[in-house]
Order: sequence, then C-alpha cells, then structure tokens
Amino acid sequence: MQNILVTGGAGFIGCNYVRLMLEKYSDYRVVVIDKLTYAGRLENLQDLAERYGDRYAFVQGDICDGAAIDGVIAQYDIDTIVNFAAETHVDRSILEPDAFVKTDVLGTYTLLESARKGGNLRYHQISTDEVYGHIAGDHNSLEDDKMMPRSPYSASKAAADHFVHAYHITYGLPVTISRGANNIGPYQYPEKVVPLFVTNALAGESLPVYGDGQQMRDYQYVVDHCEGIDLVLHQGVIGEVYNIGTGKEMTNLAMVEILLDELNLPRTLIRHVEDRQGHDRRYSMDVRKIMSLGWEPSYTPEEAIRASVRWYVDNRWWWEPIRSGEFREYYQRVYGNRKVIA
Ligand code: NAD
Ligand code: TYD
Repeated sequence: MQNILVTGGAGFIGCNYVRLMLEKYSDYRVVVIDKLTYAGRLENLQDLAERYGDRYAFVQGDICDGAAIDGVIAQYDIDTIVNFAAETHVDRSILEPDAFVKTDVLGTYTLLESARKGGNLRYHQISTDEVYGHIAGDHNSLEDDKMMPRSPYSASKAAADHFVHAYHITYGLPVTISRGANNIGPYQYPEKVVPLFVTNALAGESLPVYGDGQQMRDYQYVVDHCEGIDLVLHQGVIGEVYNIGTGKEMTNLAMVEILLDELNLPRTLIRHVEDRQGHDRRYSMDVRKIMSLGWEPSYTPEEAIRASVRWYVDNRWWWEPIRSGEFREYYQRVYGNRKVIA
C-alpha cells in the first residue's frame, strides 16, 4: 500500500482521514478525487499541498465518471481506493433522492469496476450504521444483521454495500467495509445537526429539534472514526464488515443540552419542530469486532460534542462564509415552513 485514492476527500470525514494518513505514513501518497458538491470544500484541504508537497494531490472529478477514475489510477499508480464520496444528508435525500442513487450507488459501482479492471486493487467502502435501519428494543446491530434501510440515503448506501460484497464474491476483489456511527468534529458542513445547532446558537437563532428529541444516536469524534478506518484498511479481514462507533448512545435532546452548556447558552433556544419523515428512532451498533482489532475511541460522545462545539467557536473563518451562501436557500426550504410543536 503506497498510493491511495481517497474519493470525497474534500468533505467532512474524508478531509480528516486524508490529514491522518499524510501525518501517519510518511511513505504514502494520497490522491483526492472530489466533485466539489456543496459539501466538498477546497478550504478543508488548503494547507496540504504546501505541507506535504507531491505526497498529496487533488483532482476535481466525479466518481460516476469511469474514464476519469481509470485515468487517475493510471497517472498516480493507485493501489488502494478508499471511498468516502457520497451524498450524505438524509434531509436532502428526502427532498431529492436522485443524486443519492447516482453517486452512492452508480458511483460505487463505477469505482468497483475501475478497481477490478485496474488489477483487483484493494478497496475500502465507507458505510454507515443507517443501513441497519431503526433498531428496536435494546438490540445492538451486528455486522451480519440484515440491512433494513428506511431513507433514500440509507437505501443507497445499503445498495452500495451489496455491490462491494458482490464484487468480492464474484471477482475476488479485496474489499472491506466499515459502518460508522454519527460523526462530529472539525469541518462538518453546518447543515448536519451538531454544527447547525452550534452555529445557529452563536448567531442567536433557535435550534430546531425534530419531534420530541428522544431519538437515540451514537455521536463519535471524527478522528476516532478515521483511526478505525485506518485499522480496518491495514488489519481488517478481506471480505469483512466492521462497525465503528463508541457503542454508547444518547438522545438528541441530551446532545443539545451538552452543546448549549458548553456554549453557556440557555435551553430556551430549543424549539421542537415537526419531525423528519420516516425518522429512524434509534441507531445502536455492537462495536466489539473493531475493538478486537485493538481500536478504542479516545472521546466519549460527551467529550466529542464539547470538542466539536469548541472547534466551531474557534473557527468562524470556516463556517461563516458557508452560512451566508447556498446554505440560506437550503435552510429556508427545510425549516422555513416547518411547524413549531413545542
Ligand atoms: P460530506 O457530505 O461532508 O462529504 C461528501 C464528499 O463527497 C464531498 O466532498 C462531496 O463533494 C463529495 N462527492 C459527492 N458526490 C461526489 C461524486 N459524485 N464524485 C466525487 N465526489 C463526490 O460527507 P461525510 O459526512 O464526510 O461522509 C463521508 C462518507 O462517510 C459518506 O460515504 C457517508 O455515507 C459516510 N458516513 C458518514 C457519517 C456521518 O456521520 N457524517 C457516518 C457514517 C458514514
Ligand atoms: P443528522 O446529522 O442529519 O444525522 P442522521 O439523521 O443521519 O443520524 O441528524 C442527527 C440527528 O439529529 C437525527 O436524529 C435528526 C436530528 N436532527 C434534528 O433534530 N434537527 C435538525 O435540524 C437536524 C439536521 C437533525
């Protein structure tokens, strides 16, 4: 492993992963390919060319474009693909599912084809706990549980996981899949819940909690997730799936209360608004398999929330220009006519 192609590397988790790989492995070259959608930001990677010289390269391109992918593989002698590129926001998938099917399903298929034709390159797929769907009772999803996706986003990610598995079985492609719980931390586009709420609160706006706020999520720090991905890439068993999360869940309301406490702001900023359609009530994964490889998270969910809040407080340069752009239109569309219920 020497020349790694990271797709979606200008997005939230991708850019944290690229930083980790460049820092950790001085003999690796990391090539990013990213379409630069609304969520892909060149400023997430802006210091890397100067810091790492030709160990780092950026190519603007679409993972659905097989010729472009083949070209990058040949040009940089790529031996490994890590696929982060995706449309990722459930609320956007409810409004416009089309791009999700294209990028998350067709894009993954296109990368798998390039990996196969390129001589069966090592391939790692970044997946999500959302493919398991809502988890009832006190069950924690195991890697071989049935996928029961319930949103256009999670259905697209589950379809991609099926393709990755099929390429392993059919063509012997050396694949692994990791399924991450909710990530939070630096460089997360501020329409996802934690950065949205921090930046709303700092702007003196209310925090729109969907429904009763009793939905359960496992909020993990993005760098912990990236360390887990790195471990699976290097030590995971080929053909296997690994869940990555803290294994500790909390309600959205508990998350909001920690967030407001860290900001020293009152809970009167909370507004309960009309729920998301088809909202998954609970995600919860069993993470013993990744832990058995020697991984454990450095941050508890509470520490991850507090550290994330501090990053947005300290990095207004990053999010203020975003919030004044296309974001406003999106915000109006999703929240403009949403009923306040409490
Ligand atoms: P993000 O939305 O911040 O970034 C996605 C990146 O993919 C952007 O840079 C975007 O420009 C790029 N992209 C989109 N379509 C593309 C295309 N057709 N070709 C090339 N690039 C394209 O997302 P994220 O939160 O960093 O998520 C990264 C991956 O991790 C996704 O696969 C997502 O499903 C998965 N994941 C995310 C979370 C989470 O909590 N954020 C949890 C588990 C898994
Ligand atoms: P999100 O960051 O969209 O991740 P996901 O739905 O993929 O888990 O949302 C996390 C949780 O926060 C989810 O239960 C929905 C909830 N949420 C709100 O209550 N209000 C909001 O404005 C947003 C964006 C999310």
